[in-house]
Amino acid sequence: MDEIIFNLKNKIICGDVLEVLREIPDDTFDLGITSPPYNKKEKYSGWLVDKVKYDGISDIKNEEDYQKWQIEVLNELYRVVKPGGSFFYNHKIRYENGKLIHPIEWISKTRWTLWQEIIWNRKIAGNIRGWRFWQIDERIYWLVKGKPDELKPEHAKLTSIWEIRPESGHKDHPAPFPIELPVRIIYSILEDRPGFIIDPFCGTGTTCVAAKLLEKDYLGIDISEKYVEYALKRLENAESERIRVIKEINQHFVGLTFQERKLLGLAKDRRKQ
Ligand SMILES: C[S@@+](CC[C@H](N)C(=O)[O-])C[C@H]1O[C@@H](n2cnc3c(N)ncnc32)[C@H](O)[C@@H]1O
Repeated sequence: MDEIIFNLKNKIICGDVLEVLREIPDDTFDLGITSPPYNKKEKYSGWLVDKVKYDGISDIKNEEDYQKWQIEVLNELYRVVKPGGSFFYNHKIRYENGKLIHPIEWISKTRWTLWQEIIWNRKIAGNIRGWRFWQIDERIYWLVKGKPDELKPEHAKLTSIWEIRPESGHKDHPAPFPIELPVRIIYSILEDRPGFIIDPFCGTGTTCVAAKLLEKDYLGIDISEKYVEYALKRLENAESERIRVIKEINQHFVGLTFQERKLLGLAKDRRKQ
C-alpha cells in the first residue's frame, strides 16, 4: 500500500473523479482543496454561462443528481483523507427558478464535519443584472475529519472573509483559482510540515503548483486531457509563480501587541500628543 501511495505522489491523473478516487487507499492525504463544476445549467443564457464552459464536459445536471454526485465525491474524499485532516471545498450560493440553493444543503448530508464557512470576497461580479444585489462572494467550506490542529495566530488573523480577486491569467480555462487561495490554505494548515494534498477537480493545476512551491506532495485529477496537459506544463514552470506565493505568505505575520510595543517604548501615548 505504501508503494501505491508513493506512486500517486506529484502526479496529475486524467480521469473521472469517482473512478480515480475509488482506486485510492483510505487515509492517504493530509489535506484537500477543490472547486467542482457548479452545475450552472448552460441552457440558461447570461454572462457567467457564456464565459464558464469547460472543455469536453457539460455543466448541466438535474439539481438532485448534481447534489447526489457531490455527496458521493465528498464521501470518497472523506475516506481518502487521514483522520485529523481537512478539506477546503469552494462553492457558491446559486438561484434556480427564484429559489436559493445553498451548498450546506448537501454538505450537511456528507460524513464531514463542517468546521467553518469562509466568505471569499472576489470584489467583482460576473452577472451584472439587477434582480439581486451583485453577488461578489463565493464560499469556502473548511471540512474536517476529526479535530484539526489549532491555527497559529498569524494564520487565524486573516479572518473568515478572504479578499482575493479572481484569477485573470490562464485564459484556456474558464474558472481557475487565484494561486493565493490554495497557498493561504496550505501554508495555514501545514506550515513547514510535509504533507500530501489532493485536488480532485484540479483544472489548470493551481493547487498542485501551490503545493509544489511550498514543498508539499500533491495529486491532481481532472477529466479533461487539455487541462491536464496545461497543468503539467504549468508545473514545469512553477518557479515563475513564486512571487505571488511569497506575497501571500508575507501576509501571515503577527505584529507586536500594544503591551509589547509599550514595553519596547514604541507605543505613543495619544494624550501627550
Ligand atoms: C472549477 S474547475 C477547477 C479549476 C481549478 N481550481 C483551477 O485552479 O484551475 C472544475 C474542473 O472540474 C473538471 N471536471 C468536471 N467533471 C469532472 C469529473 N467527472 N471528473 C474529474 N474532473 C472533472 C473540469 O474539467 C474543470 O477543470
